[in-house]
Amino acid sequence: MSESGAGESERSEEKTDPGAIRHGNFMNYYQFHPAEERVRQLPRGVWQRQRVGHPARKYTGLDVGCNAGDLTYVLRDFLEEAMSQDQPEISLIGVDLDPILIEKARERNPRPDRLTFERLDFLSEDCDETLKRYLAQLNKTRFDVVFCFSITMWIHLNHGDDGLEEFLRRACELAEMIVVEPQPWRCYRNAERRLRRAGLGDFPLLKKLKYTGNPTKHIEDILLRICDFRRVAVTAGNEWGRMLLIYERKQES
Ligand SMILES: C[S@@+](CC[C@H](N)C(=O)[O-])C[C@H]1O[C@@H](n2cnc3c(N)ncnc32)[C@H](O)[C@@H]1O
Repeated sequence: MSESGAGESERSEEKTDPGAIRHGNFMNYYQFHPAEERVRQLPRGVWQRQRVGHPARKYTGLDVGCNAGDLTYVLRDFLEEAMSQDQPEISLIGVDLDPILIEKARERNPRPDRLTFERLDFLSEDCDETLKRYLAQLNKTRFDVVFCFSITMWIHLNHGDDGLEEFLRRACELAEMIVVEPQPWRCYRNAERRLRRAGLGDFPLLKKLKYTGNPTKHIEDILLRICDFRRVAVTAGNEWGRMLLIYERKQES
């Protein structure tokens, strides 16, 4: 399975789980995209920028579209290591709309004291309420970081340009810092081709999109213009052509 449509892996996923093609809720995602490789691109020194000299004891993150949890587990370990000098207590919550994937993430959870998984559609009101309750338990009003890895295309295909804006606006409202890994435009075409080939129709909103050609550029523009965040770092593309956009909330005066 691959969003970029790469050979054998794509064919095997179609045989086992054709329905997953509409939202990207692939069952064997981490067999093809090992979680450890995904964090290699992340810089180390940016995670506590807002609190230089005032390290927070509790550090909290949200992983939107966490799939079976493998990347969420690795992100927590990564943050723990990257902030080892300050030794904050790091807790992450992963949300995904697929109940089977959330069950898998819970069953294999290596740190139930610090990792929570909830089945939620990120664009639903329920999700907002659950996340605010989670933050309140930690005496926080926002997440220190919100991760959006390889989810923006699925939101864009299913909810259009307005849905993509709404998704990023909601994520930024909840975040001090945001990390987005957008899928390149060729993946949109591949996703549609695969849906058609599986006899599952198409993405009706695809033809109506105005944010075409270079999703990364449009996402950066939304983060700057609508969310009023500022750029911290943008990484080079990894071996499958994906960059990480790291943005943060402007300091409140
Ligand atoms: C391609 S996978 C990426 C998984 C993970 N973020 C990663 O990069 O390793 C996209 C995930 O987003 C989830 N997803 C799609 N739309 C969603 C939504 N509206 N709310 C929550 N999860 C969603 C899918 O179920 C799927 O597990």
